[in-house]
Amino acid sequence: MSYSRTADRYTRPAILFHWLIFLLIALAYLAIEIRGPKGTDSRAFWSSVHFWAGTLVLSLSVLRLLWRLWAGAPEEIDHNRLLAFLARAAHLALYVFMFAQPLLGILMINTGGHPVTLAWLNVQYTLVGADAIARPVLKNAHVWLGNAFYWVIGLHALAAIVHHVLFKDRTLRRMTGS
Ligand code: HEM
Ligand code: HEM
Repeated sequence: MSYSRTADRYTRPAILFHWLIFLLIALAYLAIEIRGPKGTDSRAFWSSVHFWAGTLVLSLSVLRLLWRLWAGAPEEIDHNRLLAFLARAAHLALYVFMFAQPLLGILMINTGGHPVTLAWLNVQYTLVGADAIARPVLKNAHVWLGNAFYWVIGLHALAAIVHHVLFKDRTLRRMTGS
């Protein structure tokens, strides 16, 4: 088990956080896309899945960031200055997204005058009170950021595949533990 910083791969916890958060974000996107029309059981079910997945993304991202600060990351592979810059900028943007997107969703619901309800366990939580002016701004930001990050996530995944298939380096393998 590699819990400490090494030159050529991410630590096991870092790899676990990366792929778990990826799956939860994919689930949040899927749920919101297929939720169906207002008033249906399908909408209630998939909205609950969306809230659960998003809340877990936020919680795990806190642990992930702490682990990143504790354990660090392997040395960069890109020796090209521009590629290294783009990779760093993309990773920073993805970290910001993992916090900002769930927070916007939670604040959007709270400013609408409701607590966030996590179905099945019946947990409810509120971070802020109702605010009719902030709500539409938060909603627009949540929908806009969600749509914009289809592209950022897509390009990030494409970059990983290009590294693996064309450059034939260890970029993807060191994030899968091999
Ligand atoms: C990483 C986590 C999340 C992602 C990727 C995400 C993504 C999205 C996207 C793309 C939409 C817009 C769908 C459309 O085009 O209409 C959306 C809508 C929504 N999200 Fe999230 N979301 C996340 C977390 C959350 C959380 C934590 C909450 C609240 C607890 C939340 C509440 C909502 C609500 C209520 C809507 C519907 C807005 C409306 O149409 O009225 N989201 N989300
Ligand atoms: C929601 C989707 C995703 C998010 C939020 C995300 C986020 C991130 C972040 C923040 C990093 C930087 C890690 C660090 O230095 O601490 C990273 C690295 C990485 N990600 Fe993702 N990722 C996602 C999806 C994917 C997918 C689908 C792939 C592969 C097809 C992938 C492959 C990689 C690889 C290979 C690295 C290591 C890059 C390097 O060492 O330079 N990621 N990811």
